[in-house]
Formats: sequence, C-alpha cells, structure tokens
Amino acid sequence: MLTNNSSSTSCVQVSRDLQQQLVLLRLSLDSPALQFPEIWLRDNCQCNVCYMQQTRSRLPHGWNYLDPTVRLLQLSWCTERKSLQIVWSDGHKSSYALSWLKERDFSHANRARYLRDSYRPEQRLWCGKEFQLIQREFLYDDLLHNDETLLHWLHHLAVYGLALVRQAPLEANVLRDLCNRVGFMRSTTYGDEWSVKAQPGASNYAYLAEPLPLHTDMPYFEYKPSITLLHTLQQSDSPGGWNLLSDAFYVAELLRQRYPGAFKVLSETPVDWADIGSEKHLKFHNIWRAPVINLDANGRYVRINHSIPQRDSHFSVPAEQVRPWYEAMALFIRLANEQACTFKTTPGDVLTFDNVRMVHGRTGYDDTDQNVRHIVGAFLDWDIAYSRWRVLKTDLGHYNK
Ligand code: OGA
Ligand code: ZN
Ligand code: ZN
Repeated sequence: MLTNNSSSTSCVQVSRDLQQQLVLLRLSLDSPALQFPEIWLRDNCQCNVCYMQQTRSRLPHGWNYLDPTVRLLQLSWCTERKSLQIVWSDGHKSSYALSWLKERDFSHANRARYLRDSYRPEQRLWCGKEFQLIQREFLYDDLLHNDETLLHWLHHLAVYGLALVRQAPLEANVLRDLCNRVGFMRSTTYGDEWSVKAQPGASNYAYLAEPLPLHTDMPYFEYKPSITLLHTLQQSDSPGGWNLLSDAFYVAELLRQRYPGAFKVLSETPVDWADIGSEKHLKFHNIWRAPVINLDANGRYVRINHSIPQRDSHFSVPAEQVRPWYEAMALFIRLANEQACTFKTTPGDVLTFDNVRMVHGRTGYDDTDQNVRHIVGAFLDWDIAYSRWRVLKTDLGHYNK
C-alpha cells in the first residue's frame, strides 16, 4: 500500500510502502521505483554521528543503541542537494545522496548487478571439449606492467578457473613478482615456493616421476590455498609430463543432473583429508574433514576436495555410509577424467588455476640426467585476488561503463 502524501520535485518522487516499511524513490515515470527498507535507512544514516568518512564505516555505537522501533516521521526530497531527507521518531535527521542510494537500491536487478560487478564475476562452467574456446594466454611482462592485462587475467581466472601466462623468464623470482603484483603469496607447510622435480625416495607423492592423478592441492587445510601457480622451468622431452585439468564444478553439475544419488552422497559425506610429515624441521599433522563437493546454503558450489594420496585411511563416518561413498566417488573420478583437457607446458609458461574449483594432474614422465622436468609452484588466495580485481576495476574506471 502506498501513502498518498508523496512529494514530487522535478522528476524525483518519494513515497512509502507502509505495509512493507519501504521508502520508494521514483526517478522517472517509466522506470520502477528504487526501494529501501526504512530500518536499513536508519542504520545507514550518513551523518557524522552515525558514519565516519575517514574510515568509510558505520560508527559502532549506533548498533549498541539502535532501536528497531524507531519510525520514519517525515520524508522529503531536496532537489537542490539531490538528496532524500528523513526525520525519525527519535528526533534524528538523515540525508542520503541520490548517487549513494542508486548504488544500493534493493531491487532484484540492482542487487544482481552489484554481485556480478563488485562481489565476484559469475563463473562459467566448462567441459573438456570447450577448452580451446575458454583458453586465454597472457604475457608475463604485460601482467607485470599493464594494469588492464592484470585485471583481464584475474577476471578470466575467476570466470573460467584457468589461465596460462607465457614468456616468463626462467628465473627464481617469477612467481613472487607475479604474486606481489596481486598482493602477496600464500605460504603453507611447504614454504612459499615449492619445487616439483623427480626425487627418488621423495616424501611427497607429487615429487616422483609417476603419473599424478587429478587432485586439488592441499585439501587437508580448512583454509586451503585457493589459486595455484605452476612455473615451468624445465620440461621433460619424454612423451610424458602433460598437464591434465578438469572443471570439477562442471563435473559436480553433471553428477547433480545424471546421478542425483551420487551427488547427494558426495556433497554430504565428510571425508578426512590429511597430510603428515616434516619440512625444514617443522613436523606437521594436518587434517580437514569435509565432503568432496561443498555447497553453500543455496546449493551453489563453494569448494571441491580431492586427492587420492591425501585422503586419510581414517574415515570417520558410520560404516554403512562407506560403500555408497566409494561408488559415488568412482563416478566422480570417471567423469572428471572424461572432462579433462590436456596440454604440455613449455619453459617460461606459468599455469594458473582456481584450486577451489579445478582438479589438476599430470601424466608420468621419464626422468634422467639429460631429461629433467622442473616446475616451481606457489599459491595466492582468492581474498587477495578478488580485492585486487575490485581495486583495479575502480582505478581503471570499469564500474561506470
Ligand atoms: C603438484 C602438482 C603438477 C605437475 O605438485 O601438486 O600438481 O605438473 N604438480 O607436476
Ligand atoms: Zn545520523
Ligand atoms: Zn597439485
């Protein structure tokens, strides 16, 4: 229900929906009204008692005293200052600029725009056959010196989960410099950067020349590193050493559609992921217990966990859940392999991918003194990468296009 005491100046018209306690702002006759819950307006008053410009944040005492029974008493539009004016039942007065309000309109379309443009870009899931279509290459030097390229790379990585950087020098600092362009590296029990080289008697399965089946890195961490970077310094001339990559969110979606029972099992059965060892005198015993397919409250994919060597023999679920889990997992692994794309990096390539979403591996290779493969790995985290993506979008003026 709308009140009839709406006030109108030039083409801006303000009114209230009393039933839903909304303030409505109509900017023109043929566009839908912007909508704002009254209690939200009170909470987000922009005056210097309620809001601190310098820290760009709400002043904390507001919530300590916020009274949800406060009511809107007077509503008007100031044409001169292009702002909404409100007087509240506790005597407080608020004023909100039109540009600020437009950005925060509660309409479905505006919330979708904000989530897509400012929160995270929408992910596009892809099958193995689409690899050539989604694959993009970025030159290392451009990434280091051109902000547009840096933004494009981060955006591509967020949307497709995979991007190849080419022509990086064959030097030790490449991954650090790239990570520093974004923010900073994520270190783990294995240090900042790690070397993947065939080492007989290695304590980690990846450091053998054997095939490395599809996996996510470090599923045994609650806060698992979320972007993996693999810099090829030397590549084996043997027929092996190919990279395998599969979009595990796409695989999960296939399961959801074709095998809903298996999907339910893999998204509900917690698995014990573990890594025990020592590195540079630090003994560690990492465990994280979570399903293979992790969903949020809306059923959207948030994380995949999978690594055969790092799945513990402890399986702390009731015994009757074990066989159904193995049967579902066999399907997941078969589909992930069917959907994998393959390619072989050359020295100077930096393969970057979303370690929350993609599963990756490599084929086995021969390793001899004359035929060496040497990959350096490092991690970034999405929090840092998305932050950089937003800052670049703002600085490069991409929000108002
Ligand atoms: C790893 C890994 C890939 C490769 O060490 O976890 O995925 O190409 N290595 O050797
Ligand atoms: Zn105020
Ligand atoms: Zn790996």
